[in-house]
Amino acid sequence: MKQFEFSKRLKQFPPYLFAEIDKEKVKLRKKGIDFIDLSVGDPDILCPKSVVEILWRSAKVKVNQKYALDQGKLPFKLAIKKWFKKRFTVTLDEHKEILPLIGSKEGLVHFPLAFLNPDEYVLIPSPGYPGYRGAAFFAGGKVHYMPLFSENGFLPDLNKIPHSVRNKAKIIYLNYPNNPTTALAHREFLHTLVRFSSRYGIIIAYDNAYSELYDKEKPLSILQIPGAKETAIEFHSLSKTFCMTGFRVGWACGNEKMISGLFKVKTNVDSGIFGAIQDAASYALEKENAYVHNLRRTINARRGIFIDSLKKKGFTDIFSESTFYVWVKLAKGTSSIEFAKRLLVHQVVATPGVGFGTYGEGYIRFALTVDEKKLKEALRKI
Ligand SMILES: Cc1ncc(COP(=O)(O)O)c(C=O)c1O
Repeated sequence: MKQFEFSKRLKQFPPYLFAEIDKEKVKLRKKGIDFIDLSVGDPDILCPKSVVEILWRSAKVKVNQKYALDQGKLPFKLAIKKWFKKRFTVTLDEHKEILPLIGSKEGLVHFPLAFLNPDEYVLIPSPGYPGYRGAAFFAGGKVHYMPLFSENGFLPDLNKIPHSVRNKAKIIYLNYPNNPTTALAHREFLHTLVRFSSRYGIIIAYDNAYSELYDKEKPLSILQIPGAKETAIEFHSLSKTFCMTGFRVGWACGNEKMISGLFKVKTNVDSGIFGAIQDAASYALEKENAYVHNLRRTINARRGIFIDSLKKKGFTDIFSESTFYVWVKLAKGTSSIEFAKRLLVHQVVATPGVGFGTYGEGYIRFALTVDEKKLKEALRKI
């Protein structure tokens, strides 16, 4: 029988680096052994109760049971506009500069299909969220990795991007608050980034999925930087802010043409977001500010406990400025996969840094997505 080969496009994807860890997890589960999972970026905390009530109520409305073939409900876009203005003092046009998404990943990955031509480069941070690489491959582009080093505050050195690459680059993906390094981008860097992107005609695809998960310093939006609306699109998510990962809802905002390009792609791919989810998301943005405040408090308390304990265990390079992750440098020469496997023996699961790209090697990422009791139990085993 004829063998069906995967497409050249799909074959470009490197092997799945977490396969071994996943296999071990399955083995433990089969043996009935309980483990503490600090590997997944999915909060253990329930989303606001009111959000579920709105979802339930809205699901019964006939119009919500039908195709949502539009650019998003106007009340949802107005809720985004109001939230954005309050949070970042940036005014967005609800008709032209906001596009609801089926989770931010959906928009981040579809976006290059609207602007990238074959042989053009996508600039991607390493370590970084794996979705960006997939986005570039699916759109037939080339990838240039920008290393993120701790000495540089985990910001890319734009001067190090070769001229041959920057002249053929179309999109730069950046993500602050950063997964996995937890770093924030300061205003000066963002100014430099906007200048760089307008000089070389490179679109900034700014992933702000963790904008509300910070400790001391409030993260910025790229759209707060003068000139950014000419060159940038920003992606937001309700997944982490309101612990709504399963709902699949977020939005893109910024440059009008970029929004319209992404919308055109989406009209050919999906058929809108379930109306009841849009209603629930609007409610969260408008009414659940106190929930986000409490979520931050909970995560910050967990962060304190985790970092103190890691320091006592002798770890020195611990990064946890924002998000709900802790990014830890391992002893020189330690492979992150080997370290993760060692933790697994003690029934603790963490993510090896190399899974986020070559420059993530030598680090391990812990997600503070279990309660304090479990966290302390995990710490006893690390
Ligand atoms: C950096 C980053 N961006 C985007 C996403 C996607 O979030 P969602 O699609 O749930 O909005 C994630 C998920 O973990 C992430 O870590």
